[in-house]
Amino acid sequence: MVQTAPSLLSANFLNLERDIEMINQSEADWLHYDVMDGSFVPNISFGFPVLSAVMKKLEKPLDAHFMVLHPESWIKECARLGVRMFTVHQETCPNLHRTIQEIHEAGMMAGVALNPATSISVLEEVICDIDMVLIMTVNPGFGGQSFIASMVDKVTRLKAMITAKGSKAWIECDGGVNLTTGKQLVDAGVDILVAGSFVFKSADPRQTIIDLKNL
Ligand code: DX5
Ligand code: ZN
Repeated sequence: MVQTAPSLLSANFLNLERDIEMINQSEADWLHYDVMDGSFVPNISFGFPVLSAVMKKLEKPLDAHFMVLHPESWIKECARLGVRMFTVHQETCPNLHRTIQEIHEAGMMAGVALNPATSISVLEEVICDIDMVLIMTVNPGFGGQSFIASMVDKVTRLKAMITAKGSKAWIECDGGVNLTTGKQLVDAGVDILVAGSFVFKSADPRQTIIDLKNL
């Protein structure tokens, strides 16, 4: 069964407590938390004051997606707050191997995200050192964008690379996920589906999470 990670970016910010309680009571495997800096991506989301409040209520593991320059600056703070998975963009990490080591030394799982235009080949040397690859299926920065169909083949090729190298890394996909695109990704070998607007804008978010998991 595919894991599901609702993305808080599409929650109701005037009623975050209610939405986190919904996540706690749901079949969701993770809560996905998008941090944006207005430099690496053309948007700003939320940072540590909100994360700290979320962590007080959340009963699921948190998957932090850092769309920021210098993500390594925030490793210790995330570990202190209890973040389970810390994901950096390959495009922001000139010393990626060191950053992965620092995430593991802080006691978290390490994920590496790739923008749609970034080839999976940049991960060949670290694929056995990481816990997850996040394939962006939209350009990062906003919820509610359309799925980029060519990313399905990228997931198929990444899955083959992971198998060939004997890596245990999970594949997560993020952006434009719904039941149609999610099914294509499940068939291609995805392990975790992130879904923001499809979950939070649906009439019955808890049922939508179950529907995604059953793909
Ligand atoms: C976009 C974020 C996503 C976003 C996905 O840059 O990384 O996590 O919340 O939103 P949907 O599922 O609406 O495309
Ligand atoms: Zn994300």
